[in-house]
Amino acid sequence: MCGIVAALAARNVQGILLEGLKRLEYRGYDSAGMAVLNAAGELARQRAKGKVAALEEKLEQGALTGRIGIAHTRWATHGKPSEVNAHPHLARERLAIVHNGIIENFEPLKRELEADGVVFESETDTEVVAHLIDRAFRHRDSANQDGGETGDLLAAVRATLDRIDGAYALAVMHADAPREIVGARKGSPLVVGVGIDENFLASDALALLQVTDRFIYLQEGDVVRLSDVNGIEIFAADGQPAERPVHTYEHGDSAASRGEYRHFMLKEIHEQPAVIAATLEGRLSGSHVLESSFGVGARALFDQVKQVHIVACGTSYHAGMVARYWLEKLAGLPTQVEVASEYRYREVVVPENTLFVTLSQSGETADTLAALRYAKSRADSLDEHGGQGYLGTLAICNVPGSSLTRESDLALMTQAGPEIGVASTKAFTTQLVALMLLTLSLRKTRGDERETALVQALRGLPAVLDSALAMDGPIAQLSEAFAEKHHALFLGRGTQFPIALEGALKLKEISYIHAEAYPAGELKHGPLALVDADMPVVAVAPNDELLEKLKSNLQEVRARGGELFVFADEGVALTAADNLRVLHVPPVDELLAPIVYTLPLQLLSYHVAVLKGTDVDQPRNLAKSVTVE
Ligand code: M6R
Repeated sequence: MCGIVAALAARNVQGILLEGLKRLEYRGYDSAGMAVLNAAGELARQRAKGKVAALEEKLEQGALTGRIGIAHTRWATHGKPSEVNAHPHLARERLAIVHNGIIENFEPLKRELEADGVVFESETDTEVVAHLIDRAFRHRDSANQDGGETGDLLAAVRATLDRIDGAYALAVMHADAPREIVGARKGSPLVVGVGIDENFLASDALALLQVTDRFIYLQEGDVVRLSDVNGIEIFAADGQPAERPVHTYEHGDSAASRGEYRHFMLKEIHEQPAVIAATLEGRLSGSHVLESSFGVGARALFDQVKQVHIVACGTSYHAGMVARYWLEKLAGLPTQVEVASEYRYREVVVPENTLFVTLSQSGETADTLAALRYAKSRADSLDEHGGQGYLGTLAICNVPGSSLTRESDLALMTQAGPEIGVASTKAFTTQLVALMLLTLSLRKTRGDERETALVQALRGLPAVLDSALAMDGPIAQLSEAFAEKHHALFLGRGTQFPIALEGALKLKEISYIHAEAYPAGELKHGPLALVDADMPVVAVAPNDELLEKLKSNLQEVRARGGELFVFADEGVALTAADNLRVLHVPPVDELLAPIVYTLPLQLLSYHVAVLKGTDVDQPRNLAKSVTVE
């Protein structure tokens, strides 16, 4: 998705903005640009289609010099990826704006501006906002209700925000308000970086770690003004001045570098033992899960829970699917899991005493956030079928201060640290750990042998994952069998079915090989027709109660000449043969097996992508944090 960086400093800001853009590259984008106000009081701009490196080349030819500036990486929504559609957009060469999100009513506003003589340069919705703010800045109380105080950028932005519908984070500067940047957020994240005699805005704290570790996470509807005179001024949605806490970023800056690894994805795969240990830290005591893990009030709420609804997108949704098996088996709680983009538009019937859980790495995924808001709206009223509202909302999330955590009753933070690779890896396995903690906390019988055994297994999990990472070499060899293929099939049963889905998602995301996942028992109901020597079939086969059934399914594949790649526990009696390759995964409690079996599948997709030469960390067309619907 798009990224924003803005800086108001006493030094030249080009380097700060460029470094910020590089740090935002992981979010996915197709063009980049920057504008600064130079010493002559003029806006100077450079934009380029493609990577930030292309913009950097242009800046080498024509550097931008100024002590105030804004910059952007664009992920196309309105209008194709091109230099002319890249941000910043200008109005009359006096105002510059960068914007994340979508302005839904831009068409009537554009017609209105065109009727007023404005000529548009781009196809974007953002340029409409540029001209509206500029017009409000120049004309007080015009016939078009612009309503800004002449020369007051803050008032002009506010007056314009009143007229636009949709989601946005934006940063605006004006040549006639030379030491001010105004930012606003609604539906898209924006943080203020607090420096010493210099301040910044960004859509992601990571973009600013080279200049500060102190951040203010703006809230929905906030407008902020950075200026030399008053530093940072924040105004809430009602227009009143607001105090927001300053947070110190605790993950250090190492997350922004690949270290010894060739790709962020590989680094993040290898971080999993450590980040899972961090996610467990302070949440286990002796042989049980600490009651305080989910925050104040959680215990009283959990005691009443009779059902669970889990809503998420993509990889996070797969984590929710695993949790359904756990919650039903261990806690006896009927559980429904749904993708957020479907849930939010459905007439959901909410049974009595249902806990609503969202899962998200970023905490800013537009569909998941909208689902939470929809769920909360159900909490206030009985539905037409006499159903109740939700008992409470819980977010399991990786980004502190994100919208999802702020808007939920309870939040459990995973401790994966910043995840830069677009393909989610460590965020997924830490979500699974958090969901196991939730499952154990929701059990009516607590402190029994099952809990003791699982807590012990959780403590040993980082070591098991370390052993699983030792499979890297053999998996790299195995990946050669996939690199030339166009399709692949993943099979699993029970908790391993969502892991098969996740393995298929990883493969298609970064290697662009079409991959499907099926519960192994479904094979003969259709997908078996696809099986031939050109279709590699990956099976996830831990030593669990469904193993014998899975083995029969694998025979069905072999009998049709399919090439099988089985990830199995050492105890599983499967002997490698011509069209059957077996890779042994370290043993673990069967309920935690989905976490362990995820790692070899991540490594497989990684090595296939490397062989194919794709952009592993920033796969085509994808964005890290999907903040538009
Ligand atoms: O930040 P979230 O967990 O809410 O993101 C949800 C999905 O967009 C995300 O998991 C996506 O599917 C990943 N690219 C998968 O690797």
